[in-house]
Order: sequence, then C-alpha cells, then structure tokens
Amino acid sequence: HNFKHMDFTLTEEQKLIQQAARDFAQNELLPGVIERDDAQKFPAEQVKKMGELGFLGMMVNPKYGGSGLDAVSYTIVMEELSKVDASSSVVVSVNNSLVCYGIEAYGTEEQKEKYLTKLATGEIIGAFCLSEPEAGSDATSQKTTAIDKGDHYILNGTKNWITNGSTASVYIVIAQTDKEKGHKGINALIVEKGAEGFEIGPKENKLGIRGSDTHSLLFNDVKVPKENRIGEDGFGFKFAMKTLSGGRIGIAAQALGIAAGAYELAKKYSKQRKAFGTEISNHQAIAFKLADMHTQIEAARHLVYKAAWDKDQGHNFDLSGAMAKLYASQVAMDTTVEAVQVHGGNGFVKDYHVERLMRDAKITQIYEGTSEIQKIVISRSILRD
Ligand code: CAA
Ligand code: FAD
Repeated sequence: HNFKHMDFTLTEEQKLIQQAARDFAQNELLPGVIERDDAQKFPAEQVKKMGELGFLGMMVNPKYGGSGLDAVSYTIVMEELSKVDASSSVVVSVNNSLVCYGIEAYGTEEQKEKYLTKLATGEIIGAFCLSEPEAGSDATSQKTTAIDKGDHYILNGTKNWITNGSTASVYIVIAQTDKEKGHKGINALIVEKGAEGFEIGPKENKLGIRGSDTHSLLFNDVKVPKENRIGEDGFGFKFAMKTLSGGRIGIAAQALGIAAGAYELAKKYSKQRKAFGTEISNHQAIAFKLADMHTQIEAARHLVYKAAWDKDQGHNFDLSGAMAKLYASQVAMDTTVEAVQVHGGNGFVKDYHVERLMRDAKITQIYEGTSEIQKIVISRSILRD
C-alpha cells in the first residue's frame, strides 16, 4: 500500500508532555483550587512552578529561554491544566499566546533579549491590553492615546478587564497614535510595571476564573520609549488581530479542558451514585448525557488540534482558530451544565468541583472575542472565498 494516512496519534513527545501536565494538574493545581476560587487568590506558587516546567514559554525558541515546542503540545497542556484549574491556565494562555508570541513574532531583537527571555521562563509574566470601557468587541475604537513625541510616546487612557492585571511585570498596550488614520494609526507598546503615571485599578469580583487577577489599568501621561513599540508605526491593530488569532486557539483548548474535566467527573460520579437500586449510569437519561458530552468533546478536540496543526504547518489559522473557540466554548457551557445535573444536589455544592467548572466555562464565550465576534470572523472568512 502506498497511500498516505492522516495521523490522529500524538507523538511520543506529545504524550510525555500530556502526562506531565496531567500530573502537575493533579498534584499542584487540584489542592487548594476550591479555596483559591473562594478567596479570589492568584495562583502565584503554581505559576512559578509552571514556569519551571517550561509551560509559560512553550513555543518560544530555546535561544530565548523557551521550550521550543509545537502548538499542538501547547493545546494539550492547556487542556490538561484547564480540566482542573482555569484560573491557572488563563495565565498560561495569555503569557504564551498573546505576550510571548507577540514579542517573538513581531518584536525587535532588543525587545526579545530584554523581555522575551524573562517571560518565556516565567521569571516575569505579561499582560495584553486591548479592551477598554468603550472598546471591547469594537476593538478599533481605541480611546487610549499614544502621542508621538519624537523619541517617546505619551500614553493616556484606561484599559479594562486585563488578565494578570496586577501580577504582570510587562504590559503590551494597544493605543491610538493618529486618530485620522483609524485602525492604521494604532500602535502596540511595551509598558513596564512601575512606569510613572501607570496605575493599577481595583480587582474585579468575578463569576468565574476567580483566581485570575482581572484589573482595569490607568495611564496618565506615561512616557514610553520609542524602542518599546512593536512593529512599524501603525502596525498595532494588525498586531492585535494576528496575535489574538493564536490566542483563540489557547482559549479554545481551555474550553475543551473545562468540558473534559467536567465530563470525567460526571462519568465517575454516575458509576458510583446509586438511585432506584442501581448506579445512575444505568439510567438511560444519564448514559445519554454522557454519550452527548463525549461526542461533543471529541469534536471540539478535533477542531482545537486542527487549528494548532494549521499554526504548526504555517497555514493560516484565523478561520480554524475562530471555529475551534466558538465550538469548544459552547461545548464547555453545555457539558458543565449537564455535569452539574448528573451530580444532582452535590453538583450544586463547591466540594464536587463541577459548579466551579460551570462558572469558569462562561468566560470562554466572552474573552478573546465573544462567540458573536467569532461568527463575524468565520462568516467573513468563508464568504470571502
Ligand atoms: N490578521 C490580520 N489583519 C486583520 C485580521 C487578522 N486576523 N483581522 C482583521 N484584520 C485587519 C483587516 O484586514 C483590516 O485592515 P485593512 O483595512 O488594512 O484591510 C483591519 O484589521 C480592521 O479590520 P476590520 O475592518 O475587519 O475591523 P472591524 O472593526 O470590523 O473589527 C473584529 C474586526 C474581528 C470584530 C475585531 O475588532 C475583533 O477581533 N474584535 C474582538 C476583540 C477581541 O478579541 N478582544 C480580545 C481582547 S484580549 C483578551 O480578551 C485576553 C483574555 O481574555 C485572556
Ligand atoms: P461588548 O463589545 O460591549 O459586547 C456586548 C455584547 O454585544 C456581546 O454579547 C457581544 O458579542 C455583542 N456584540 C458586540 N458587537 C457585536 C456585533 N458587531 N455583532 C453581534 N454582536 C455584537 N481584554 C484584554 O484586552 N485583555 C485581557 O487580558 C482581557 N482579559 C479579560 C478577562 C476577563 C475575565 C474578562 C471578563 C474580559 C477580559 N478581556 C480582556 C476583555 C474581553 O476581551 C471583552 O470583554 C470582550 O472582547 C467583549 O467586549 P465587551 O465586554 O466590551 O462587550
């Protein structure tokens, strides 16, 4: 036979990474996950350990301190971590896909030496600041300004909902330099914590991913050296879009993990809990829920891996990443709601984890582009062909 097979198997290396992430999630993320969620406590120690394991700069070239792995391995790690703790995995997603990738793909050699080397090892973590009070989905309507003063910019404005808002050391901030040029007048600047006039607002009290520190950021005449601009003048919006395309694969993998984590708990519970003289998994209503969950999760996993594979092959991944995020986030919602149902009253209390997974699932339909925005990206892409 001389036909080429499609290959759905993971490589030996990918399997080892999967096992390492699974072990880490069980041994290091699971203990205390309920308490961190309750107390809105940032997983600082866990993030430090993830840095040591190479999870914070997974796709970064080893010459900058990264792990030099493929995007498929990255989605595998995101899935495994997210099965247990999405507040920790969002740190991994933002640092890898938005901050490290953004600087490695579009930054200068000096920026890579200065920032990427520390970000990739987890010595410091980064944040990506696009959203504003009046520019969320409508991301081109940036009100934050970066006025060109020759050798530096003066930054003014407010960013909203910023993940790693208080724990980051490095912030990629998108801002409008030339309003007349619309989205072509936007720049991406690297801003360091502690810069004069840069203030971190209060932490948001959230429905889900409560361990993640989400803050507004205020910039009041902050001086940013020109060498901290990423790309050419006016590249900032394209930079944000290109970076977010990869970010959406990470969040799709997060959604997949939340769904898979809830499914695994529901399956286990259904084989232990008895009602009407038998395990509840013997009631077809419950068994069929598990069948639906398993099928939808497998479909989501294929979309997520395909998007990551596209990225690894150097194919365009705007469409596959958006489809993966749209679908996987819906599966995360549907699966977690059903996982709570399978647990009955126990599903409604914190000790059984599924109520947290249900609350965490919701964010995957909102950040890095809402589901409605993914449909805009998808429909524009398919209609263009
Ligand atoms: N790659 C390159 N360029 C792109 C692009 C892409 N993927 N997508 C758009 N562009 C370009 C367009 O080609 C266009 O440039 P030209 O005029 O030169 O052709 C320019 O960007 C503007 O594009 P549109 O005209 O399509 O702009 P729009 O106003 O219709 O908006 C949008 C497009 C897709 C809706 C965009 O605004 C968007 O993605 N919104 C959602 C924002 C978002 O995802 N925010 C997430 C914040 S980060 C976050 O949330 C992190 C976290 O949670 C952890
Ligand atoms: P809006 O844009 O006001 O949308 C409101 C509703 O209208 C949504 O349902 C939306 O889908 C819909 N809508 C809007 N426009 C259209 C349209 N054209 N067609 C159809 N429906 C539409 N941002 C960052 O930059 N960095 C971060 O690190 C970050 N982290 C976040 C963490 C959390 C916990 C949260 C909650 C948000 C985070 N965000 C971050 C912001 C997030 O990306 C935005 O909330 C999101 O893009 C939506 O923007 P918005 O909240 O302004 O909603």
